[in-house]
Amino acid sequence: MSGGRIPRAFIDDLLARVDIVELIDSHVPLKKTGANYVARCPFHTEKTPSFSVNSNKQFFHCFGCGASGNAISFLMDFNHLDFVEAVEDLAAFAGLDVPRENASATLAQDKVDLQGLYDLMGRVAEFYVQQLRASAAGKHAVAYLKKRDVSGEAAKTFMLGYAPQDWQELAKRFNQRELLDAGLLGSNDNGGLYARFRHRVMFPIRDKRGRVIGFGGRVLDDSLPKYLNSPETPLFHKGREVYGLYELLKKNAKPPRILLVEGYMDVIALAQLGVDYAVAALGTATSQAHLELLFRYTSELVFCFDGDNAGREAIWKAMEAAFSVLQDGRQIRVMLLPPPHDPDSWVREQGVERFVGHMQDSQVLSDYFFGHLTQEYNLNEMEGRAQFVNKAKPYLARLPDSLFKEMMFAKLQELGRVDVAEKRVVPDRFPSRPPQKNSRPPLERQTLAMLVQNPGLLEVLEEKGVDWEGLDFKGADKFKSILKVMLAKKPINTGVLLEYYRDSVDEGIVKQLMSTKLEVPLAGIEAEFCGAWERLLEHAADVRFDRLLVKLQREGLSQQEKEAFQKLSMDRIRK
Ligand code: CTP
Ligand code: MN
Repeated sequence: MSGGRIPRAFIDDLLARVDIVELIDSHVPLKKTGANYVARCPFHTEKTPSFSVNSNKQFFHCFGCGASGNAISFLMDFNHLDFVEAVEDLAAFAGLDVPRENASATLAQDKVDLQGLYDLMGRVAEFYVQQLRASAAGKHAVAYLKKRDVSGEAAKTFMLGYAPQDWQELAKRFNQRELLDAGLLGSNDNGGLYARFRHRVMFPIRDKRGRVIGFGGRVLDDSLPKYLNSPETPLFHKGREVYGLYELLKKNAKPPRILLVEGYMDVIALAQLGVDYAVAALGTATSQAHLELLFRYTSELVFCFDGDNAGREAIWKAMEAAFSVLQDGRQIRVMLLPPPHDPDSWVREQGVERFVGHMQDSQVLSDYFFGHLTQEYNLNEMEGRAQFVNKAKPYLARLPDSLFKEMMFAKLQELGRVDVAEKRVVPDRFPSRPPQKNSRPPLERQTLAMLVQNPGLLEVLEEKGVDWEGLDFKGADKFKSILKVMLAKKPINTGVLLEYYRDSVDEGIVKQLMSTKLEVPLAGIEAEFCGAWERLLEHAADVRFDRLLVKLQREGLSQQEKEAFQKLSMDRIRK
């Protein structure tokens, strides 16, 4: 399913073909009111509908929570998909195949194989479940799970199973080639086959769409290795997946926080006792990909690790990745458990309420970070402070530019008693004005909003022209850059235009313009826009006239400027 890039033209075409009303209606039933379709917003809880979908614009917008976007954005947000997944699903909705740049015949081949592997993994997971429930040897696994206080319901939720000792059990039911590809069989040096998981409790690892992509398996006693995991396969990439995400999202698509723990059994014990928002990294260090994945669903992560040395080290290892993703609005807490506990034993001992209490009282990452380092170095000595600053600075440098980053540097400076100020990382913002209720937005903004919401109006621009030099007002650069994009791309509707801005710095501004309420009914838009554009052009002419007048008085004009000045003067007289 991977392969080359999806061609830009395909995405434009796809967005032009699908009807966002039809798409959203198949997920959230819509009701027609006037020019829009409305529903209660799927992205926040509300009693009266403020979620609105516009067919002309091919754009949705919620007046309550501000969510907005095109058909691709909707699928990404609603189904928690990444961009490529959303394009694939939208293409499927429209009955189209997604072409790839440089796609070769072998890629098409890969695609078929992947689907086969997903099917196989799903069937093997069911086989393991059936072995747990019904086979003679499975009784040992059931006894083990009982001993660990895993309820039958939790076993069902997490689809726990049992892998039998004999590799033939798998081999006689499934295709050997596929079992090898899926990492369920291995071959030894003599070419003999063996099953990777034998006589183990099996934990299927599912992707967020619920497809089984790998397994973890635990021994039933103290033998080693205690856990085995699927190797990297075409379906399974340890560094990018977490255990328990599918089960978590089924319970709550937008959890207020997600707890990141170390073990399979921790996730299950927590869920069983009601803390059903924990996931585990799969026996690997926490990666940036893990964190980005989790921050798609929540704004707060809690690292809940054992308080022993290994746990502390694991947290420290996660620190680099953590700093890289900590943009404003995201928060990470650190909850260290008293040794020798892990979350499984701790929640059982403390009970859920106290566990949640500890979690809420846990340190924020910045406190943990500085606390840890100030213990490690002697800040009373210059040498210690130098080491401390040298150690801390590269971490802080990873923070995305934000107010938080500035505060962290200020703290470092204070503790290190040295001037480590980087360049100011937060751009000076425009002086904040209180929002002016009931006042019309300025003409430029209103004009641009009409245009991005009705790209057909580009014809007016082409006919009347754009005075690039004369357009001069606060925000004119942005205004012009959006005009240029529109003139170059000629998007067929608002949804298509938005796609050019995905993940760009201007995405927020453009979305705001697209969501701005226009006071003009659709039928009157063109006339209104023509009038507004003419006024902007007049203003632009005034600007140029004034500029030339000043120059004339100060230093005189070139021949070309003189002609321009005369023309502008004549126009002014005619008005
Ligand atoms: N792990 C692993 N391979 C191992 C040991 C551990 O992949 N040989 C991973 C597993 O995901 C495991 C996690 O690290 O769940 C935490 O390991 P550990 O703390 O040793 O085990 P617990 O989760 O506490 O397991 P249990 O309670 O079953 O002993
Ligand atoms: Mn444990």
